[in-house]
Amino acid sequence: MAQKQGPALDPPRPRPLWPVAALARTLWQGEGNLLALLPASAYRVAAGALGYSRRSIILFNDPAVVRQILEDKDGIFPKSDLMVGALEALIGESIFVTDGETWRRQRAMIDPAFSHMRLSIAFKAMSEAVTDQEGRLDQLAASGEPMSLDLAMSHLTADIICRTVFSVSLDVGVARDVFDDFIVFERDVAQVRIARLISDPAWTRVPQKPGVLAACARIRSHLGALIDGHTGTDDIAGAVIAARDASTGEGFSRDELIDQLGVFFLAGHETTASALTWAVYMLASRPDILDRLRAEIDAVAGDGPVSFEHTRRMPFARAVFRETLRLYPPITFMPRVALKPARIGGRTLRRGALVMIAPWTLHRHKSYWQEPDRFDPDRFLPEGEAVQTPGAFIPFGAGPHTCVGAGFATAEGILVLARLARRFDFDVSEARGVRPVARLTTRPAREIMCRVRLRHV
Ligand code: HEM
Repeated sequence: MAQKQGPALDPPRPRPLWPVAALARTLWQGEGNLLALLPASAYRVAAGALGYSRRSIILFNDPAVVRQILEDKDGIFPKSDLMVGALEALIGESIFVTDGETWRRQRAMIDPAFSHMRLSIAFKAMSEAVTDQEGRLDQLAASGEPMSLDLAMSHLTADIICRTVFSVSLDVGVARDVFDDFIVFERDVAQVRIARLISDPAWTRVPQKPGVLAACARIRSHLGALIDGHTGTDDIAGAVIAARDASTGEGFSRDELIDQLGVFFLAGHETTASALTWAVYMLASRPDILDRLRAEIDAVAGDGPVSFEHTRRMPFARAVFRETLRLYPPITFMPRVALKPARIGGRTLRRGALVMIAPWTLHRHKSYWQEPDRFDPDRFLPEGEAVQTPGAFIPFGAGPHTCVGAGFATAEGILVLARLARRFDFDVSEARGVRPVARLTTRPAREIMCRVRLRHV
């Protein structure tokens, strides 16, 4: 990652424009990228109407109001129809999209699969996946071939999910098939079509391409095969299969298991892959930060294995990971919909209004962060965290729907960064025009191509 550069530059972001110019840019780029639609004011105001839609779209940036919406004590703001519509062919009635009683039952049955004890068991499987990835990178370092950073990180995090959820590696036939079909899904799924967002009223279905629906059907069938062939009890699938509803004593049906385990695959590998891609990219441009990270790893783990306990004793690696989640929150937006007219944060919402919570704007908001666009991990060392505005950093969401995998993802992120930074230099000097877009997760618009070398010590 040691590509020497001049003064520290802010990492890439869409240039905030006036609203009309932002809309023109978004339509011209034709990527359906909501990030490009955000006007300059979105980084300054506490709340504001977004755009020109027939459907009212309000962005909320005040941490206290955001918390109120996400806690949703009165059941007025469920997950938005746009998000549910994009995901339902894939993960049906999974915990990621449900609300109310259905969600409560699912969450109570799933939480224990991510307990601290399970996490320390999963850590071993994570480490084995990283070892295999190091082997692949060693080969690339020897050959000098360029690689896609995005694809390498997606492959690694998908392998981690397969091993921790199902105890199989990504190279086993069915797991590989799931991964390949997820790439089709991720690339083509339509969450929002900007033109339709402007013209359609609330609860209008966004049609999916036949190719996306076919990929979803194949993924569900592969997941079914993995569930049918599953025997272990120590992994995450084992815990979810064994889970029982406290009141009825019943477990999940086969279809429900496909929904739930599918969401672990989706939410659990795309998100961390996004964060790791941006982290490696930024570290490659900031040798000063990379040196500090390496000094910490060398002091804590030396050349030996990196244990779960070590990851909890690397405050700087944790800070690098969190600062990456601040600048490039993998879940760019958390849309909710107003089920009925409501008044919140000084705004009156009509029924069907799209209520936008955007980690992206909260995390770069001028009222809560100094030099918000600067990559500065020191913000997440204890002294920096002590002065942060509560609720202005929500990469894992907030309230009852907070990410079940936050602890898992944090251990994984620190482990991967520590081990890759210790062993390799990533040269991104040939990557051109890197810019973030909001797809299923926050991704570079085009793959970041890089070269890998063994670290010179
Ligand atoms: C850096 C990595 C990750 C990030 C940034 C992230 C972010 C989030 C966010 C923001 C939410 C809330 C969405 C909303 O309220 O609309 C969420 C929910 C969820 N995440 Fe994660 N996630 C990550 C990793 C994981 C992992 C590793 C897993 C599982 C293996 C996972 C499973 C889930 C599930 C099941 C939910 C739904 C929880 C509920 O609604 O009760 N996530 N995640």
